[in-house]
Amino acid sequence: MPLVTTTEMFKKAYDGGYAIGAFNVNNMEIVQGITEACREEKAPVILQVSKGARAYANHTYLVKLVEAAVIECPEIPIALHLDHGPDFETCKACIDGGFTSVMIDASSKPFAENIEITRKVVEYAHDHGVVVEAELGTLAGIEDDVKVAAHAASYTRPEEVEEFVSKTGCDSLAIAIGTSHGAYKFTADQCTRNEKGILVPPPLRFDVLEEVSKRLPGFPIVLHGSSSVPQDYVKMINENGGKMPDAVGIPEEQLRHAAELSVCKINIDSDLRLAMTGTIRAFFNEHPDKFDPREYLKPARANIKELVRHKLVDVLGCAGKA
Ligand code: G3H
Ligand code: 13P
Ligand code: ZN
Repeated sequence: MPLVTTTEMFKKAYDGGYAIGAFNVNNMEIVQGITEACREEKAPVILQVSKGARAYANHTYLVKLVEAAVIECPEIPIALHLDHGPDFETCKACIDGGFTSVMIDASSKPFAENIEITRKVVEYAHDHGVVVEAELGTLAGIEDDVKVAAHAASYTRPEEVEEFVSKTGCDSLAIAIGTSHGAYKFTADQCTRNEKGILVPPPLRFDVLEEVSKRLPGFPIVLHGSSSVPQDYVKMINENGGKMPDAVGIPEEQLRHAAELSVCKINIDSDLRLAMTGTIRAFFNEHPDKFDPREYLKPARANIKELVRHKLVDVLGCAGKA
């Protein structure tokens, strides 16, 4: 089937109590690892491209890689989404350039300005058959090129969501309930430590999610910053010359619970980066004489695939839903 929008995916996910995985893509091996897992697990998927990815790999290369995945995986629905669109022009370029979904992220702007920019993107997108994700509230961590310090982060205010959605006409809404971008989601003082000395982050604000869902019945909610920072990969990186002390993510059981509620899209990028980096570091340590990129990218791609499979089956609940 051709590239799809997220409309049908989200409706089924909402009704079925699961979420669609939205994975960031930057090169061929990442696209292949993700989509091979989705094809084998019969899972719908959102492949998303950030401003940084477009700058790194070039818009056309990324669109063509995703189109290749569509050809290779004809049985599963695939959406191509702009992640954290910073302005109308970037959204327009993606709408005109083959994307089926865009995010306009004006969440750092005042409420009225966020509405105004989002509304403009929605009008253009809907005229072209493309859907729009918007954001209310600010996540800590790194959002695309913007670094948001923990003290500048703010939870979504549920009392604002009805007005925002009705005035903008957006198709899905990203909210801030305590997730955060990157591999260092929380400082050590925000966490406790478990018996193994591993940091345990503060729980997500399910009360905020439930209040938002009550006010927007049937409306798809999105969670950004939802990597779980697998400690096996952090260990693999640290044991092979890396230095990532106290990297910590969102516990997977909390994401599973969010997926059972109104969360229909869960964004995961950092976990895939950790899998790729850990695998390549370990490969070089074991094989200092090797220099063929295919030899180290092959196990990296295989580990991305297995990690995505685990997310589809054990976290998102979307395996078998294509
Ligand atoms: O939320 C940001 C995504 O992880 C994309 O990151 O801007 O480094 O491509 P990037
Ligand atoms: P992570 O950094 O937690 O993987 O979040 C990715 C994301 O939200 C992309 O928009
Ligand atoms: Zn994000």
